[in-house]
Amino acid sequence: QLQKREQLYEANEAAALLYQHCLQHSKFGAVARSYLEQRGVPAKIIEHYRLGCAPDPDQVGWSYATDQLRNQGISQDSLSKAGLSAVSNRGGYYDRFRSRIMFPIIDMTGRVAAFGGRILGDGAPKYMNSPESPVFDKGRLLFGLHQHRETIRRQRRALIVEGNFDLLLLAAHGVDCAVAPLGTALTRDHIRSLRPYSLETILLFDADAAGLKAVMRCIPYFLAEQVEARVALLPAGHDPDSFIRAEGSAAVIDLMENARPLAEFAFDRLADEHGLTLAGKNKIIAELKQLLKEATDAEQRGLMASHFSAKLGVSPEYFITEKVMAKRPAM
Ligand code: CTP
Ligand code: MN
Ligand code: MN
Ligand code: MN
Ligand code: MN
Repeated sequence: QLQKREQLYEANEAAALLYQHCLQHSKFGAVARSYLEQRGVPAKIIEHYRLGCAPDPDQVGWSYATDQLRNQGISQDSLSKAGLSAVSNRGGYYDRFRSRIMFPIIDMTGRVAAFGGRILGDGAPKYMNSPESPVFDKGRLLFGLHQHRETIRRQRRALIVEGNFDLLLLAAHGVDCAVAPLGTALTRDHIRSLRPYSLETILLFDADAAGLKAVMRCIPYFLAEQVEARVALLPAGHDPDSFIRAEGSAAVIDLMENARPLAEFAFDRLADEHGLTLAGKNKIIAELKQLLKEATDAEQRGLMASHFSAKLGVSPEYFITEKVMAKRPAM
């Protein structure tokens, strides 16, 4: 079992080197490099994050990487388990990643656990990631944590962004404390994995409906894990990548400094959604009660309850959950 894991890491490392080589030396690589340049990714970022590309099958065939890696002595079994090769319905093997920019995802042991791949320009699917494997649990691994953990520790804060390019463009502009989940919603394990390094987490998600929804979804996890978090709000339509390219790093740092506590963000979202009519307030109260149940820290629960009650003009009693009630002495 341990040996199997080693073999998967070995396959991924060989693939990372191959993709890096393709980016620098192949015909498709030249196109991929100009795409990266056009997106504002400098050479030093390409190098530091070990970016590569999976070539175009029209130029090299559908099993280029599979064949190259097999020739290097990597077993087909490892390539398949690592999700680098897939089986065609005629029984042959072909490359899972084709015509894509490749982002190696490095785990806390410093080894390549998985890849993210983005198509050049338009085309579907836009992103493709490695499947889960004995070395890749997407609910636990955060892109960038390996590279950024020292900065995160020093600055005592981490930024969570949604996308690979968000993380790279922030880093290109000197903001190198971001991490990103990989094509999955943020989980409690992700949040837990930041705890040894950061005092505070700032969520910097895309300013679109999906991004706002994603923030709301993970608020209970932060409460349950007792990890301090705030939400930074980008102007509508922006993501961190587009914003830092348009406005520069000072503007991003400003947003981070003005990030709002989770409770305030949650309240404003619910108020937007339901409105502050009597019926709306009832719905808001019901949802906030659910949220408060997640807060395992009594002090935080109390602070949130008083924030909500002040906002709604109701007594904090409204937000006292069963958990707290149960602890009261019987009348
Ligand atoms: N993602 C994914 N699979 C998809 C769409 C998105 O895994 N089909 C992940 C990718 O890691 C992506 C992130 O979710 O970086 C955020 O998605 P999105 O905002 O749609 O992509 P961007 O990173 O903004 O993509 P780009 O700037 O390259 O267009
Ligand atoms: Mn899992
Ligand atoms: Mn998005
Ligand atoms: Mn985005
Ligand atoms: Mn983007």
